[in-house]
Amino acid sequence: MNQHPKLDDPLVLFMPSGKRGRFPVGTPILDAARQLGVYVESVCGGRATCGRCQVEIQQGHFAKHKIVSAPDHVSPVGPKEARYAEKRTLPEGRRLSCSATIQGDLVVDVPQDTVINAQVVRKDADDKVIERRPALNLCYVEVEEPDMHKPLGDLDRLKAALMREWGYGRLEADAHLLPVVQSILREGEWAVTAAIHQDGEDDVPRIVALWPGLKNEAYGLACDIGSTTIAMHLVSLLSGRVAASAGASNPQIRFGEDLMSRVSYVMMNPEGRDAMTRAVREAVSKLVDKVCADGQAERADVLDAVFVANPIMHHLFLGIDPTELGGAPFALAVSGAVKARADDLALDLNPGARLYLLPCIAGHVGADAAAVTLSEGPHRQDEMMLIVDVGTNAEIVLGNRSRVVAASSPTGPAFEGAEISAGQRAAPGAIERVRIDPETLEPRFRVIGTEPWSHEPGFAEALGPTGVTGICGSGIIEVIAEMYLAGIISEDGVIDGALAARNPRVVAAGRTFSYVLSEAAPRLTITQNDVRAIQLAKAALYAGIRLLMEKQGVTAVDTIRFAGAFGSFIDPKYAMVLGLIPDCELDKVSAIGNAAGTGARMALLNRDYRREIEQTVRRIEKIETALESRFQEHFVNAMALPNKVDPFPRLAARVPLPARRTPATADAADGAPRRRSRAERAARRNRS
Ligand code: FES
Repeated sequence: MNQHPKLDDPLVLFMPSGKRGRFPVGTPILDAARQLGVYVESVCGGRATCGRCQVEIQQGHFAKHKIVSAPDHVSPVGPKEARYAEKRTLPEGRRLSCSATIQGDLVVDVPQDTVINAQVVRKDADDKVIERRPALNLCYVEVEEPDMHKPLGDLDRLKAALMREWGYGRLEADAHLLPVVQSILREGEWAVTAAIHQDGEDDVPRIVALWPGLKNEAYGLACDIGSTTIAMHLVSLLSGRVAASAGASNPQIRFGEDLMSRVSYVMMNPEGRDAMTRAVREAVSKLVDKVCADGQAERADVLDAVFVANPIMHHLFLGIDPTELGGAPFALAVSGAVKARADDLALDLNPGARLYLLPCIAGHVGADAAAVTLSEGPHRQDEMMLIVDVGTNAEIVLGNRSRVVAASSPTGPAFEGAEISAGQRAAPGAIERVRIDPETLEPRFRVIGTEPWSHEPGFAEALGPTGVTGICGSGIIEVIAEMYLAGIISEDGVIDGALAARNPRVVAAGRTFSYVLSEAAPRLTITQNDVRAIQLAKAALYAGIRLLMEKQGVTAVDTIRFAGAFGSFIDPKYAMVLGLIPDCELDKVSAIGNAAGTGARMALLNRDYRREIEQTVRRIEKIETALESRFQEHFVNAMALPNKVDPFPRLAARVPLPARRTPATADAADGAPRRRSRAERAARRNRS
């Protein structure tokens, strides 16, 4: 530690961390950073050969910090630094912090290749800077040659050198290195780079990999195993740079579209668990191939990997039978964070590679929700933040600094287009945006992969040969919300058959009515059953949210974050019109895309985030919606659009909502199909 800084010692401020301190003239900037706990990478141990310790000296008068940072406040480029710049090129303005010394007050920028670009759709985009403190570090070291008079083994002298030069108090080594340590030391002519893994503060650091000479790159994986897609990033552990990203569909879809059907598959087929574990591991392995090829890395260069997944995927990936998760009390085999070796899961990476799986919050709220929580940080701020990850099983987290609660709601697959007559997955050809003219009841829509709207010139040409194939999740939300806003469906979700007289798009279908969204083949209609399916799904989601709000003692939330792919495409306005989410200022509702992947990257690059989420998950109160007596009541109220009892004043201020019917005029208050009005019956007669 910088024990005795003098008052007149130069003041050094590190950005973006904002950490500052006084250091005697001549202190290497790298040492100053270390003393302040600012993470600056260093592989070569200050030999000016790895180039990992680069910083940028800011110039100018920083009035806010009362610092004048001038070019001569840092030592001139010395011979070692000049040699590095000549051999390896040093970008303009960059200095090697192990060589550059402090000569006066300085503002030093530690370049962060690790800034997470918040999703474009995010309005309050606060780019996240992941300060690095990885569990794995590369340490170059020169080892004493063997000496007959000092019978210390090669590995022991390596350990001694690492402890001496890198300040490790204790050090262990993986057994797989024993057969190779001698040849590597000799090949490197007694200079080697060791990968040292230390996750927990109290863990004994371990040498997990060894290379001859200077090894100047190591990678990690951040992987989100979703029920439908697996997404993976290959990340440099030394710079934080994302070298490659790739995604693939989860091959388990063939065992069942949704999670519960996969659990049933395991229950019915004794071989099922192994087959599913194999399938997910193979898919992960293929993605490793892909990101390594794209990022020009070798599998053996991957030394650390963080995985997040929902509980069932988490269990299957680990080879655990998920049957217990199929019914109450939804017991997880393990809820805490899992640390393992890649070898344990038959994942072919570097033989010393380590894995880390974030903790699961509950039997239905997995490590993916924990990763989203880590990324968005409701527990780090004061506003009441609602995080919703809409899937077949919606995961909901609500809280702030003082308390966080979580639950899941069985929304079913309706939001993903299943159970909807014209529904399909989000893919080219699917309707994703819908508007309905309240006067004429005529729709216009936009299709994935096609720029113009359906009423604009060039639509048919842009559409291509596949044409309009169906409606995806966001399209279903919009069409039903627009039908409600246009008065085609009542607040109880009943398609108003009387309108058949006004517009031929409202058509009778048996005892109910449908709305024809697209005439061209295939004819796409929104049926009464479709509306019901969405009502049921959204009521389940809202009832879960409402329960959590009740637990928190709030009637409104300050911010809403939509996680997951579906959330990225859903328009918050329409989600609120449907009453999928509670009333909130619309500009406080944002999509956060693959926040689970962001959380995984955070845990990969900084082990402090692992501890943070482990502690946070322990604190999160889990609510089992199925056991809560009020769930049913909230569910029934939430069947109405947007809700039978909860007001939506902030939404109403932005969107003119249809007038609420009084109970006396509401003839289908329980959400059951109402009896047809005389006008409806007349309309049917006219058509037949
Ligand atoms: Fe390696 Fe500075 S620490 S170049």
